[in-house]
Amino acid sequence: MNASRKTRYAAALDFAQRQVAATIDRTPDYFPIYTAAGKWFHQGELWTDWTGGFFAGMMWKFFQRTGDAAWRERAEHYSKLLEHRRHDRNVHDLGFIFLNTYRPWFDLTGRRELLDVLIQAGRTLAMRFMEKGQYLRSFVAPESLFIDIMMNVPLIFYAAHHAGDDHLRRIATAHCRTTRKRLVRGDGSTAHEGIFDLTTGEFLRQTTHQGLRNDSSWARGLAWSMYGFSQVYGLTGWDEALATAELNADFLLRRLPEDKVPWWDFDADTSQPPPWGAQKDSSAGAIFASGLLDLARQTASRERAEEYHNTALAMLDALAGPEYLADRTPGWEGILKHGVYHTRKNLGVDESVIWGEFFLVEGLCKAMELT
Ligand code: GLY
Repeated sequence: MNASRKTRYAAALDFAQRQVAATIDRTPDYFPIYTAAGKWFHQGELWTDWTGGFFAGMMWKFFQRTGDAAWRERAEHYSKLLEHRRHDRNVHDLGFIFLNTYRPWFDLTGRRELLDVLIQAGRTLAMRFMEKGQYLRSFVAPESLFIDIMMNVPLIFYAAHHAGDDHLRRIATAHCRTTRKRLVRGDGSTAHEGIFDLTTGEFLRQTTHQGLRNDSSWARGLAWSMYGFSQVYGLTGWDEALATAELNADFLLRRLPEDKVPWWDFDADTSQPPPWGAQKDSSAGAIFASGLLDLARQTASRERAEEYHNTALAMLDALAGPEYLADRTPGWEGILKHGVYHTRKNLGVDESVIWGEFFLVEGLCKAMELT
């Protein structure tokens, strides 16, 4: 990576550290989710409580980057605040929460009790498995499968590996196969949700909560799929997972706008105004960028590797630039502008969202390690 890019990325990471430190000082022990007019919003609807691992996860990244003991102390403190969630059966997001907190903590220390937390969280997540239908149910209903769960199922593979538990591995594998078959379309795009018949397990239809339409391609859903299948490949070596991530990436590369930061839904009519039309989702861009850097290392194709790598850096260039980075917007409390949480519910639309911040930091840190 050239020196001027490294300097820009380092400046963006320095800014990210300042913003996170300021949020901690302003509101200790608070886990931000999305902003309203640039201010972290304290009373708004959560929809579901899935994001704590991103704020704490950034603190682990900052510690890894700087070696500063103050970041480690904060990271441990905020991770600990999430420990009770290992028994939480109300969400399908335990991977987001624990893989970004207890995993780096365990990797650093090798302490058995930290691994036990990860294994317990994996077991709790696996309890969502629906035998009829062969999927992990989403938080909304037993008949519902979400594409987002692809980013959480790696926790079950991780727990299966460390606990030597084949039952967990079978559940995780079955979930991936069902998601591949029911939510990933032939052109590489994805549906947000699948609905199953609870009596027979038969698949009924594709639907959405956060996308434009049931048959559209919600950008963040595609990002969860691409990055999730790539992680599953990394943990299992399962070829079909890699092929699925590449299929998702091929769709993405065909549909990106000029600045490489995706519209919130690939089927949005961008001749129309936001929020339903020309609205970017920078958080999807950050997830894609970080995921593509991994996929560039995983693919067997040299051409694909180059394209994924170049696209990821172009995305990071845009996200760390003046249009998206909040460093030139006085009073803005987030790091990355122009993210979207939930358009239909009007939550965090054209705002900072905490997972956008996390994946930007992750993507920049990965890019900084490239030679
Ligand atoms: N519920 C996960 C997401 O908003 O992407």
